Amino acid sequence: MTAQPRENLAGVDLLAEINRLRKEKNAVILGHYYQRPEIQDLSDFVGDSLELSRKAAETDADVIVFCGVRFMAETAKILSPDKIVVLPDMDAGCSLEDSCPPDRFKAFREAHPDHIALSYINCSAEVKALSDIIVTSSSAEKILSQIPKDQKIIFGPDKHLGGYLARKLGREMLLWPGVCIVHEAFSETELLKLKAEHPDAPIAAHPECPPFIVDHADYVGSTSGILDYAKAMPGDTLIVATEPHIIHQMQKSVPAKTFIGAPGADGNCNCNICPYMAMNTLEKLYICLRDLSPRIEMEEGLRLAAKKSLDRMLEMASGTVGKGDLGNR
Ligand code: 13P
Ligand code: SF4
Repeated sequence: MTAQPRENLAGVDLLAEINRLRKEKNAVILGHYYQRPEIQDLSDFVGDSLELSRKAAETDADVIVFCGVRFMAETAKILSPDKIVVLPDMDAGCSLEDSCPPDRFKAFREAHPDHIALSYINCSAEVKALSDIIVTSSSAEKILSQIPKDQKIIFGPDKHLGGYLARKLGREMLLWPGVCIVHEAFSETELLKLKAEHPDAPIAAHPECPPFIVDHADYVGSTSGILDYAKAMPGDTLIVATEPHIIHQMQKSVPAKTFIGAPGADGNCNCNICPYMAMNTLEKLYICLRDLSPRIEMEEGLRLAAKKSLDRMLEMASGTVGKGDLGNR
């Protein structure tokens, strides 16, 4: 269960207080699609990792309240150093970040001096600083296709996203063996049972899923890409193989359609709810906005080193990149 703040907030009208404080402090609230519905609904902007990074780089607010996980809030701080960046729960990490300790990544890079390092944004600021280019799930394909074919590449920390890109683009890459515990939890057996019950429903999957899930998908893309697919697809039912909180946005955008979350191993477990994203609650959001804490702080040398690879991503992903540019398989 998510730890609640120790403070007794009974009697506090959280929504009214958050609305008062966001104006008083000139704060922008950025929310990822995997946040609880009540947090998505009060966010100024809800988006995927690339869109949220762009918003964080562009905003003229004094305070960025990042309702997502720590690497996302760190990205906001790297791109907007003069802003105060707060995160409702500083323990909101990510299994991909945990799988890639900077010292081991540095040694891996040093063992392969002829490779450049392309890193998924789901990593620490230290790993960003050790990387040449950052990618998100919605920008990876466009960025990878701009790198000369004969350039050797290390891709980390998500072996499933890296493997998917390597298969799709016919491009060998050295993969760091990290996984997202949420997308790893989907069951192929249960997915096929669900598909048998809804034979006309397409399957949309996030590329963080293992190949045994992605290979059954009609559409593969980032959270924004999956949302766009849900709006545009001709049918009325979609099976969704990503963190189920995104279904909230789908239901808001196209209420007449039916969205079914892909199951985990026991058929209906909650194992594909991201435990890190779920650490953020309305109570903690209120407290962090009121106290402007916990705050992301970063040593300037590290920030500048990490910013280089993020800036490359923003440049290479700019132009006509589509939200779901991984597209249909
Ligand atoms: P996107 O929203 O960029 O698809 O990322 C998904 C995710 O797992 C974020 O942690
Ligand atoms: Fe990390 Fe997976 Fe949670 Fe995204 S869904 S924050 S990749 S653990």
